[in-house]
Amino acid sequence: MKVLFATSELYPLIKTGGLADVSQGLSAALARAGAQVTLILPGYGAVLSKLGQPEQRYPLQDDYLRTDVGLARYRCPQSGLPLLLVECPALYERDGGPYATATAEPWPDNAERFAQFCRAVVCVLAGRAEGLASGYEVVHCNDWQTGLIPGLVRQAGLPQTTLFTIHNLAYQGIFDHATFQQLQLPPEWWHIEALEFFGRFSFMKAGIVFSHRVTTVSPTYAEEILHEPLGCGMAGLLQHHAPKLSGILNGADYSVWNPADDPCIRFHYDADRLPEKLNNKLDLQRQLGLRLTKTTPLIGMVGRLEQQKGVDWLLAAMEALQGEAVQWVILGSGRPEFEQQLQQLARRNPKTMAVIIGYDETLAHRIEAGSDLFAMPSRFEPCGLNQIYSLRYGTLPVVRHTGGLADTVNDASDSALAAGTATGFVFSEPTAEALTRTLRRAISRYAEPGLWRQMQLTAMAQRFDWERSAHDYLTTYQQE
Ligand code: ADP
Ligand code: GLC
Repeated sequence: MKVLFATSELYPLIKTGGLADVSQGLSAALARAGAQVTLILPGYGAVLSKLGQPEQRYPLQDDYLRTDVGLARYRCPQSGLPLLLVECPALYERDGGPYATATAEPWPDNAERFAQFCRAVVCVLAGRAEGLASGYEVVHCNDWQTGLIPGLVRQAGLPQTTLFTIHNLAYQGIFDHATFQQLQLPPEWWHIEALEFFGRFSFMKAGIVFSHRVTTVSPTYAEEILHEPLGCGMAGLLQHHAPKLSGILNGADYSVWNPADDPCIRFHYDADRLPEKLNNKLDLQRQLGLRLTKTTPLIGMVGRLEQQKGVDWLLAAMEALQGEAVQWVILGSGRPEFEQQLQQLARRNPKTMAVIIGYDETLAHRIEAGSDLFAMPSRFEPCGLNQIYSLRYGTLPVVRHTGGLADTVNDASDSALAAGTATGFVFSEPTAEALTRTLRRAISRYAEPGLWRQMQLTAMAQRFDWERSAHDYLTTYQQE
């Protein structure tokens, strides 16, 4: 089966969150399962600087494409799969991130940037990239940045099956009517049964309406978005399209996230060498200037510092546990007030709290390896990857019962402990108090080394391989 995988992020070339990891891990697993996969990504400056010369360039023929848009073929660094870059220096080669400036302002021309990307993808599907055979049977689209592809495929009468994956319904790619006109989209799409969304229009809605199949990244989130508030205004629309919607849990790339051979950590370990984990803890404490102690529980957190991730609850829990025997290490960036409040707390507690604002892959791995607990108190979480990585590192996750967190972590209830199936600590109530209570529960369990070790071993034995997800996607591609 020949698949074109369209995405706006790809590890290790460009990453703001889990989508980059999914694009890498899933495409590689699809290829291992026998699919012929090509990836297609905007040619951001940051990506071009990491790749050498292209293997080939192809002119694109499309009346709606800017004349300065081109296509070039490279290879994915990790998997070696073919990688097409839609190149346009004026749109994609800028200092800053893929969606926003260095100071987190969305690029003012995001609609045009991603509409041009979508049109270029459809040009490839239609065989209008000169010298490049199409023959694709499936186009797999990811999040709003690719949302126009299914409609354009349908409008052009192309034969491909279109699958649209929602990684986060909270980001919908919404723009105004003037932008709709500038993009020269079919006028009949300005309709409530097409793109129009409360007086504006949405790329995400376009992807949902026009694709053959819609997936999201966990079974629980696939149910949650059928109702408000997690439907983000689209619950009714999704109910209408429910027959084509399903949830496929993300996987983890254990060639990147494995404590037995992780190049980012100093002391490698697995179930048979679990005591080595403590050396990573001391190493992390030393690096961050925390008090050196093997016995005080260390709680880690890595992620976007946004409301979604429950950072306000985390701040309240950190305050509530101040002065108690617990240490924290937080790595992330996001809302300026969260960044400042976290930094203030850390300044007041230099030996027990380390807060690092920024993006640091190596430190993210070291936190997974060195922490005892990993906090993910998300308000909602389509899937979440860090809790899956934490399980593998024997770092027990403390999570809210939502989305993919609910699908991957098994609470340390008395019955689960007795059955030997507990892998973490789960709470439901959406409050800071519930998080604090659950952290206290985890900390008191930490004082029981035998029980803790058993939980670590159970957690480390869990497998969320991409193989299983790839198999489900291949089946879904065929369910047109
Ligand atoms: P989301 O996609 O909502 O941000 P996920 O848990 O799915 O959440 O994926 C987040 C990914 O991004 C993980 O691989 C995580 O390690 C990484 N990540 C997030 N913030 C940082 C950061 N500040 N430094 C390094 N890695 C980060
Ligand atoms: C989104 C979601 C996250 C998910 C990731 C990859 O960023 O917020 O929960 O794991 O996409 O699918």
